[in-house]
Parts: sequence; C-alpha cells; structure tokens
Amino acid sequence: MTKDRKLIIAGNWKMNKTVGEALDLVTGLKRELANVKELDLLVAPPFTALSEVSKAILDSNIRLGAQNMSEHNFGAHTGEICASMLKEFSVRYVILGHSERRQYQKEANDLIARKAQAAHAASLKPIVCIGELLEERNAGHTERVLETQLRGSLAGLTPEQIEETIVAYEPVWAIGTGVTAKTDQAQSAHAFVRQILASLAGEAVAKRVRIQYGGSVKGGNARELMSQPDVDGALVGGAALELRSFTEIVKNSI
Ligand code: 13P
Repeated sequence: MTKDRKLIIAGNWKMNKTVGEALDLVTGLKRELANVKELDLLVAPPFTALSEVSKAILDSNIRLGAQNMSEHNFGAHTGEICASMLKEFSVRYVILGHSERRQYQKEANDLIARKAQAAHAASLKPIVCIGELLEERNAGHTERVLETQLRGSLAGLTPEQIEETIVAYEPVWAIGTGVTAKTDQAQSAHAFVRQILASLAGEAVAKRVRIQYGGSVKGGNARELMSQPDVDGALVGGAALELRSFTEIVKNSI
C-alpha cells in the first residue's frame, strides 16, 4: 500500500503493566518487529514504566510516548508530570485529550490546547484525541462534535505546529467495546477532520497531518482500516497489551 503519509501505529497501554510486565512486552515487540521500517511504531506505557522501557528500546525502531502531561512547566502541581520530565526518558510523543480523560478527569478543549502548546514548546509531538459519543452520532451531530473538539484542542497552534501534531479519531462508542467503526464511517470522519485541518492551517499542511483511528482495532480489521485514503495509523488500546495481537496489527498494516 502506498500513501504519502507514513503510517503510525501506537499502543496506548492505559493503566496497565507493572515495570516487569512492560519490559516483557517491549522485549517481545523489539524481537518481533525489528525489521519494520515501513511505518512508525510507538508504545505509550504508564509513567511508572517510562524509565525502564526507554532503556529497553534504545537502538530500536520503537518510539516512546506518554499518556498525558501537565500544561505547566514546573511548580506546585501535586501529582502532575511536565514535558521536561518526559524528555528525560526520551519520550517523543504525548497522548492528549483521550476520551477517558475528557470523561473522567473532565478535560476540556481549552485545557487540551494549552497542553498541546506546552508539548510543542518542548518539541514533543502531541497525539490529540477527538471522538463523538454514541448519542451524538445517533443524533447526527458527529461532524459538529469533531469540529468543536478539533478547533478547540488545536487553538493557538501555528500551522507548523499543526503539521507536527497527530490527530487520533477515536469514536467513544468503539473504545473497548469490540465494536469497530465501519471503514466508511472511519474514512468519512477522517476526511472531515482533514477538511477542518485545511481550514485551520491550509491545504498543504492538512495533507501532511497524520490522522490515526482508534477504537477496537485488531489484527482482523487493521488492513481494511489502514487502506482507507485518510487513515494514517492506529491508536490501539486492548490489543496493544499482548505481543501477538499488537504484532498482528502492525504486520497487517504494512
Ligand atoms: P481499544 O483498542 O481497547 O478499543 O482502545 C482504543 C483506545 O482508547 C486507544 O487510545
């Protein structure tokens, strides 16, 4: 499959894996995926495993991501982690505005935008997540929701920064449910996202932004999803926790 944009397949491990379990998984991934050059590979372990996983993937084709970060650079913010702390472990990417954080930590678009600005200021690439609830889709509001989230979460970024941002379209009803978006639903949402990106940053930039799909991605549906013209990778939850299923997704995406 040829596409101008290089696919990026990322594992979002969420709140799973002790350090030992994380090392087991990443050691297996290094072995199984050592020859993969066609696409970018990324794992996002919990903060507590970043240090050891970072050492384990040195000199490999696997890059490191974090699952969240503070919008502040330092100071009295108990329990928070800032960009410079992530950079100590060679973290390159940071997932921002995941629907679980929007839902349970009440993260709003303006906060996500401030985090995205802080990430870029530190040369971390944000993976900005957007996606509609089932009720919103059923009410015909998907595009309105995606546009509001995207414009709000990318507010204040320059076109150059938008180009270095990854957008993850994760329909909330597909996350952890086993119900994957149909390929035409994914493609039409991604094409719409690219249209909004063009209005924010121009056509040329929009063409270069990678838009990942997330929500019950598995080995069995990866190939068809990745073959859609505007789908540029996957953000994988459950299936990223096992060596065999993540490896299968990667191999079927090439
Ligand atoms: P699942 O792959 O478990 O549906 O999770 C998707 C997700 O939320 C990735 O960020």
